This record gives sequence, structure tokens and C-alpha cells, in this order.
Amino acid sequence: MNRRFADKVVVVTGGSRGIGAAVTQRLAAEGATLAIGYRSERPAAEDLVSRLTAGGGQAIAVQADVIDPAQLGHLMDEAVAAFGHLDVLVSCAGIEHFGTLQELTPADFDRVFGVNTRGQLFAVQHAVRHMRSGGRIVLTSSVSASRAVFHHTLYAASKAAVEAMVLNLAAELGKREITINAIAPGGTATDMAAEHAKSYPHPDLGLPLEAWMRTHIALRRLAEPEEIAAAYAFLASTDASYLTGRTLAADGGYF
Ligand SMILES: NC(=O)c1ccc[n+]([C@@H]2O[C@H](COP(=O)([O-])OP(=O)(O)OC[C@H]3O[C@@H](n4cnc5c(N)ncnc54)[C@H](OP(=O)(O)O)[C@@H]3O)[C@@H](O)[C@H]2O)c1
Repeated sequence: MNRRFADKVVVVTGGSRGIGAAVTQRLAAEGATLAIGYRSERPAAEDLVSRLTAGGGQAIAVQADVIDPAQLGHLMDEAVAAFGHLDVLVSCAGIEHFGTLQELTPADFDRVFGVNTRGQLFAVQHAVRHMRSGGRIVLTSSVSASRAVFHHTLYAASKAAVEAMVLNLAAELGKREITINAIAPGGTATDMAAEHAKSYPHPDLGLPLEAWMRTHIALRRLAEPEEIAAAYAFLASTDASYLTGRTLAADGGYF
């Protein structure tokens, strides 16, 4: 495989499972050194580290709840303490939410925006303290930021804010030759999708997910995490040197 990330140190938040774990493995296969952030799944994160180091790579796992900016600062500092520098931030940590307007509480708002939006903003703030010229930042939005889904308001809004963040931070970071973009994944076969994908069809139709996908997704299926990881790898690489402030939809043609 191409060695686009040889000598690059990469922090991946939410790197223990799902899309983040697939990104971690993809970038490691291309030569990256990894600091894997996780919240609660220490065994999954440590198992990933063991597999990467057994394959000749370098990796550490660091517990960091992204809702707490101080823990994000610790994650970036640990990466630099272990490996000397920081070149790429991939921010994958996120949580789903479905609920009607009347069910929503201020605590739901604070939790969903705290992880999906605030967590990504302060990850960027702490990462760029260490980044050199040529740094790459890839955040995570969702197709839901731009497509209406019943009872998905809070999650969708938390992700739409991320697209506005990359648009505006690109201008600020450009003078340092740091690029910042987002991936907006479509439905991807992870723990999150296993729990929540069934909520995407209109609630009155009672459609099974597979039937809904045949009429709303050109490729008629969920993505595999590895397919989404390839899009992150592109934006995190030198191949994307003139691409900043943008959100790339990796959604199988969601219509
Ligand atoms: N799967 C989809 O269909 C889909 C579609 C569009 C967008 N996305 C977005 O893609 C990203 C990854 O989703 P996924 O499907 O891979 O989810 P997942 O399988 O549920 O994994 C979530 C990851 O985020 C981490 N995480 C959650 N809350 C955290 C917190 N407060 N602090 C630190 N880490 C935290 C988890 O860590 P632990 O393992 O330690 O709990 C885990 O590594 C999310 O931002 C999600 O919104 C997913």
C-alpha cells in the first residue's frame, strides 16, 4: 500500500471503534504513527494498539472524553510526548440522537452538542497548538446535516455546525498552511448504525431499512467503515493539499 503517512503522527478521536477504528487501521497501513483516543472502550483501543504494533507500527491509546476540553488537551500533549510532533487530527468521536421536539431536554442538547460540536472544536484548538505547516485536520459531519430525517433535529444541527466550523476555521488556519475539512458519512455499518439506522425511514411507513435504502441510496446499501476510511485518508494526505474548508459527502449517493 502507498506510504502517504510515513513519518506522520496522527491523533484519531473515537479511534477505538467503528469509522474511527477503520481510519486508524487505514492510516497505519499507509505508515502513520497513531495516538488513538477513546472514551470508555479501553479493551478495544488497547487491542487495536496491540495489533498495530505487532504489525511493526507505532501506536498508543489515550483515554479522553471529548466533552472535556482539558482531556482533549491531554490527548494532544500525550501524542507529542510519545512521538515528538503532531501532523494530522482526525476527529471521529460522536454520538447519535433521535427524539421528538417535545421529548428534547436541555441536557440532551448539552450532551449531543458537547460531544459532536464542542468536542470537535476544542480538539482542533488543542491540536493546532502542536501542528506544523502542512498539518491536516478532518472532522466528522453526517449526511444528516443536509437531509431532513424525522426526529433527528438535535443530531443534524450538531453536525451542521461542524460544516460551518470547517468553512470558517479554514480561513484562520490557511496562513499556517493547515487544511481543515470534514467528511459527511452516509449510513455506515458500525455499532451506531446497528442501534439507530432503523430510525431513518419515515416513522409512519414502517419500512424495513433495506427497503428504504433501495429508494434513497444509489448504491442501495450501508457503507463498510473501510470505504469511509478511504475518504478520510484522502483528506488527511498530501493529495488534498489544495482542499480546505469543505465537507465531502461519502454517502453512496443519498437522494
Ligand atoms: N455510522 C454511521 O452511519 C454514521 C453516519 C454519519 C456520521 N457518522 C459519524 O461518524 C462518527 C463515528 O461514528 P461510528 O458509527 O463509528 O460510531 P460508533 O461505532 O458508535 O463509535 C463511536 C466512537 O466515538 C467514541 N466516542 C463517543 N463519545 C465519545 C466521547 N464523549 N469522548 C470520546 N470518544 C467518544 C467511542 O468511544 P468508546 O468506544 O470509547 O465509547 C467510539 O470510538 C461519529 O461522529 C458519527 O456521528 C456515523
